[in-house]
Amino acid sequence: MMQSGEIRQKFLDFFKSKGHIIVPSAPIVIKNDPTLLFTNAGMNQFKEFFLGHSAPSAARIADTQKCLRVSGKHNDLEEVGVDTYHHTMFEMLGNWSFGNVVGEVQPYFKEEAIGWSWELLTKVYGITEQDLYVTVFGGDTPEGLPKDDESEGYWKKWISSDRIISGSKKDNFWEMGETGPCGPCTEIHVDCRTPAEKRKIPGIELVNKDHPQVIEIWNNVFIQYNRKANGSLETLPARHVDTGMGFERLVRILQKKQSNYDTDIFTTLIHETELLANCKYSFSDSKKDVAFRVIADHIRAVAFPIADGQLPSNTGAGYVIRRILRRAVRYYYSYLDLKEPLLYKLLPTLAKQFDGVFPEIAGQQEFISKVIQEEETGFLRTLEKGLRRVNEFFTSASAKKINGEEAFELYDTYGFPLDLTMLIATENNFEVDAEAFQQEMQKQKNRSRAASVVDSNDWVTIDHRTGSEFTGYTEHQAEAHLLKYRRTKSQGRSLYQLVLDKTPFYAESGGQVGDTGALTFGDEMIEVINTKRENNEIVHFTEKLPGKPEAVVTAKIDEGKRKSIARHHSATHLLHAALRQILGSHVQQKGSLVNNDYLRFDFSHFAKVSNEELKKMELIVNQMIRANIPVISEEMDKEAALKKGAMALFGEKYADKVRVVTMDPAFSIELCGGTHVNRTGDLGFFKITGETAVGAGTRRIEAISGELAVRRVQEESGLLREVREKFKNSRDLQKAIDATLAENAELRKQLESAEAAQLQVLKEKLVAGKQMIGEVSLITGEVKVSSADSLKKLGFLLKNEVENYVVAVLANVSGKAAAVVMLDEPSMKLLNTDAPKLIKETIAPRIKGGGGGQKNLATAGGNDVSRFREIFDEVASRVQQTAK
Ligand code: SER
Repeated sequence: MMQSGEIRQKFLDFFKSKGHIIVPSAPIVIKNDPTLLFTNAGMNQFKEFFLGHSAPSAARIADTQKCLRVSGKHNDLEEVGVDTYHHTMFEMLGNWSFGNVVGEVQPYFKEEAIGWSWELLTKVYGITEQDLYVTVFGGDTPEGLPKDDESEGYWKKWISSDRIISGSKKDNFWEMGETGPCGPCTEIHVDCRTPAEKRKIPGIELVNKDHPQVIEIWNNVFIQYNRKANGSLETLPARHVDTGMGFERLVRILQKKQSNYDTDIFTTLIHETELLANCKYSFSDSKKDVAFRVIADHIRAVAFPIADGQLPSNTGAGYVIRRILRRAVRYYYSYLDLKEPLLYKLLPTLAKQFDGVFPEIAGQQEFISKVIQEEETGFLRTLEKGLRRVNEFFTSASAKKINGEEAFELYDTYGFPLDLTMLIATENNFEVDAEAFQQEMQKQKNRSRAASVVDSNDWVTIDHRTGSEFTGYTEHQAEAHLLKYRRTKSQGRSLYQLVLDKTPFYAESGGQVGDTGALTFGDEMIEVINTKRENNEIVHFTEKLPGKPEAVVTAKIDEGKRKSIARHHSATHLLHAALRQILGSHVQQKGSLVNNDYLRFDFSHFAKVSNEELKKMELIVNQMIRANIPVISEEMDKEAALKKGAMALFGEKYADKVRVVTMDPAFSIELCGGTHVNRTGDLGFFKITGETAVGAGTRRIEAISGELAVRRVQEESGLLREVREKFKNSRDLQKAIDATLAENAELRKQLESAEAAQLQVLKEKLVAGKQMIGEVSLITGEVKVSSADSLKKLGFLLKNEVENYVVAVLANVSGKAAAVVMLDEPSMKLLNTDAPKLIKETIAPRIKGGGGGQKNLATAGGNDVSRFREIFDEVASRVQQTAK
């Protein structure tokens, strides 16, 4: 049986033999495209090439791409685990041809793509024609799209006509999302049923009918159009090929399994889960077996994005990861009866499986595992709390129903998916009002959509040139032309986005914030409030449009701000190198923010960074500053840069040509597109201002540089001078502070013991003044104490001094009322009340306050000290009424 590793390699080798360059997978998390959170198809990383914004270095490319389909247009989450062939995270094998590349190796189109698909599947992998069907696009009248006769013609060379099916726009016109590159496609389906089943129903009747054994494995898309925001299709200047084959499905077919989960891609994970859960997977549709499959699928969907730098969180891509993880926890908690974290324990198996293909898992195994474990532990805690809450709903319900608001609270506060709530309800003979729940969900979705959705109009082109050149490494000002603009709307605010042919404005990326400044068209100046990158373009954000968009524009950044940003960026590199020197090479950058006010650097490390370590790092960075080393930025091939020892980040997509920033080759070499100072001396001074934890296995350092750092030190030493003066310029300030603190503690102790003696006296007095009403000893009175706490202590002293007691003692503590009320068991029974009730009924309203506590001892506080007498009388009369 061919192993999955060999199957993947054969695909790549085949396309290499057809002139393709093999490239690495792009990160699974998408950072620079507002239309997508995760890579959902192999072609995402090539989107700009299709749209003609830029051209790749080769006309033919192939790879295996990590994909995630859990949100947006392509979402398979609900199918996962329940069926046998959908996944959240999967690998997509793909080959591409870019029609706009000129060079020795020519682009290709339908004929070659179809011929090679056939050759690979039947000759290399040995699938027989009898098991194959293909679909081609049948055309679409409303869109004005013709039938794809061309593809059909090419297929007829290889496969008999009765195996070719004409398909609708839904199945045979592929689109990446609501907007973007698209085109007709031809799909290849495989029938893996038994011969007997095949005789009963012809496979052709089951294609695209959700049959678990007749499945699509490969899609060849012929990208010819761009879907625009207004819904129309625009013909692209060149024609491209984009193919995607589901790796897990291919392996299943070649390994002759009934389910993707029975292939060697998943069996190791399932086996490991069996050992951890101490129960067997039995290949069925039972909830327990679905749980095994969900876990094997979801651990991949959670681990890969974390490896690429996306931590679980409450919004956006991070929330998607959190949801998937919780879904897995819910499955093992409910159906494998596991109450402890499990997923993180699968990391070693996963890392081993992908070593060599996706080394980012093994490379960060400990970190990923820590993050997952913490998430699991957190959710298991809320899961239990949520279960308690469900029980409260059960006891308080009048009808046997959990209403929509309750189900939504479980979902929203405790992270319970509706089906979990329904399962628990059924077990208790309850129902769930699912419809009302969906309404609540919709309300929330509307709320969050209103907050997050950015409506973008289509671009208005002024100048047909494409791309935008960044001149800001060396220049702060440029004479440029406006290429295009569009209007966007977010949370009711209109903004404009402008793209120039060249610009000194740095677009936010790699943690460095976007530049601000001004665009001057003739004599009209427009403020740039931010600059961001979208795909390959630098987009300037403004609040208005120029009156004369065709005029020459002077683009000028805010220089002072940029200089401070550059200082903080260079300081970040120095800090990063110092961190690895002092803490070790396990330190990986996990996040970074560089702006004009400060720098923030998140990194993987498993303990608090000690003051000593921080000091050492600060010293190293300042030494490097004083050495006044030149900061050298150069462009080079990625391979050469990595060989040189440049630090690259997991989850970052690097082009073939990269920019390398070096500050002493023996100290810091990083791949970086940011802007920097010329020499380290330009930083002047560096100061760490904080060190905190930001989640499992991740620490954060904040620091400042330049004049800001000097000012901070001035402020702090000024403060220190004031403190010194307060301590009479004592020579050893530390000692003087310690002595004062010790003295303070000693005085407090003395005060407490003096008060304790005083409380004894008060107690004696109160006991002596007790009033016998029937069987009850009533102790009331106003005392002088220094705090509500002392009053409570007095209460404790009064406890059990007499039998059958009711105590109500009040004090005026610096103008505020304080009360302590106590009853013992017999008096509680006799009076049919308890301390909190007595407070609520007789004291709280009179002191204009409230309180509570235990049944036998409660306290209260309030603002009115004028009605104590009334309170004592009222308590006495309550006792009188019942105690006689
Ligand atoms: N883009 C197509 C798909 O995702 C082919 O790669 O199916």
